Amino acid sequence: MGSGICEVCFHGAEPVSICLCNLASSVEFLYIAGMSAYLQCIEENCQKKISASTKAHVCPDCSGLLDVMYDVQITDPDKVKQTFQQRRLSNDPLDLSGVWRYRELLPFCSDPAKVVTMQEGNTPIYEAPHCAGYAGLKKLHLKHQGLNPTGSFKDNGMTTGVTQARLLNSRMVACASTGNTSASMAAYAARAGMKAVIFIPDQQIAFGKLSQSLDYGALTLQLEGDFDEAMKMVKEITEESEVYLLNSINPFRLEGQKTIIIEMLAQRGWKIPDRVVVPGGNLGNSSSFGKAIKELHDLGFIDKMPMVTIIQALRANPLYKTLIDRSARLIRVEAHTLATAIKIGNPVSWKKAMRAMEWTRGWCDVVSEQEIADAKAMIGRDGVGCEPASATTVAGIKKLIQTKEIDKDEDVVAVLTGNLLKDPDYTVNYHQNNLYEKAAYKNELIERKDKIQSTYANAPVKVKARKAEILKVLGL
Ligand code: F0G
Repeated sequence: MGSGICEVCFHGAEPVSICLCNLASSVEFLYIAGMSAYLQCIEENCQKKISASTKAHVCPDCSGLLDVMYDVQITDPDKVKQTFQQRRLSNDPLDLSGVWRYRELLPFCSDPAKVVTMQEGNTPIYEAPHCAGYAGLKKLHLKHQGLNPTGSFKDNGMTTGVTQARLLNSRMVACASTGNTSASMAAYAARAGMKAVIFIPDQQIAFGKLSQSLDYGALTLQLEGDFDEAMKMVKEITEESEVYLLNSINPFRLEGQKTIIIEMLAQRGWKIPDRVVVPGGNLGNSSSFGKAIKELHDLGFIDKMPMVTIIQALRANPLYKTLIDRSARLIRVEAHTLATAIKIGNPVSWKKAMRAMEWTRGWCDVVSEQEIADAKAMIGRDGVGCEPASATTVAGIKKLIQTKEIDKDEDVVAVLTGNLLKDPDYTVNYHQNNLYEKAAYKNELIERKDKIQSTYANAPVKVKARKAEILKVLGL
């Protein structure tokens, strides 16, 4: 210091210690604001408030879902937006994170030294002309959360979830998972020196994801049954023990995932899209998008709300069914889809996802296995690529343009949730014309039914290692 330049914001200030920007963005601000975080039940006839220093993930009175709430007033949103931008020049570990850079909007951590970060977030937005043409939109942007440290959007929420675990002095964390949550939790727990226990459905998660949690040292429990059963078990076990639950029912996870929206808006210079499209599985991500948009609107950061549009797989569609039937209770299903990340029939956060759609005038729709597979190949053609669940977005946009729910001039951002390399079997099978909706295994593949057409197949070409033959294949 002493040069007249604020170390935090790089603004000139005399004397440096009272630079306003420094006050607004400093760790000190985080500390003060962190004092005011609490949990509140989302059920309208309950709304119980409880301390943020508890490992409860549901309301102790009515078992309703909980929100993290803050008694924070932001008087000058433009100034805070500037602070976010200026932090991109800083090498402070919190500023390097695409989650904690936006800490004024998730001020629950009263001790910055407790933050567990791997520089998560910071994911690009790509324009995707192939996908836009395929779907029938003039322009389409893809925000690729698969370019996070462990290859999925879960890292945005795991940095906050594991930080809260550390604030509560937890030594063991657990989750049920279709593969990405477990990979992310295993990595962040390893960074934090915590024991990670993951509950996964036997033989139903992609190898890319399984290999991650094994390598990151998690105790990996392969349970007979599906994700919904694994979720039930982990909830019971964490309720009865000291183990801290890190599924997206944990509201601190959702605080981090809010930054997917915040970062997207910051990257667009706060130009608000008409619509944000997201896959729906356990419905944590769509829930956090709704909360982010509502809070940004209430705090005066944005004057319009992008519509949250959730896309589910046709036979893993509990939210869609519940919405269409206008049911006050979740209509559970036995889920089936090759997009194993979203093979979920009893999503824990469905009420928050409903709320997100209500707040933003959003919608939910479903797409078939064929539509997912072809949309995924198109995302690949834009040089981007993703895992199958993420491709529900582009497939859903195409369908909603056909049904005129989306206009071709709309400004749409699709959120790709997982990396292409998570599930290479699916991709290679598609390109080799070998992808089936139903495949039965008894250690090995014994039966295949309902073939998916490999409309955009790009199979490898077998060729002898002879120059003449290769030139022939190349047409030279
Ligand atoms: N996309 C990917 C790649 C996912 O891994 C998931 C969820 C989703 C979409 C759906 O997100 O649950 O917030 O609605 N995966 C979880 C897991 C369930 O265990 O990894 P959601």
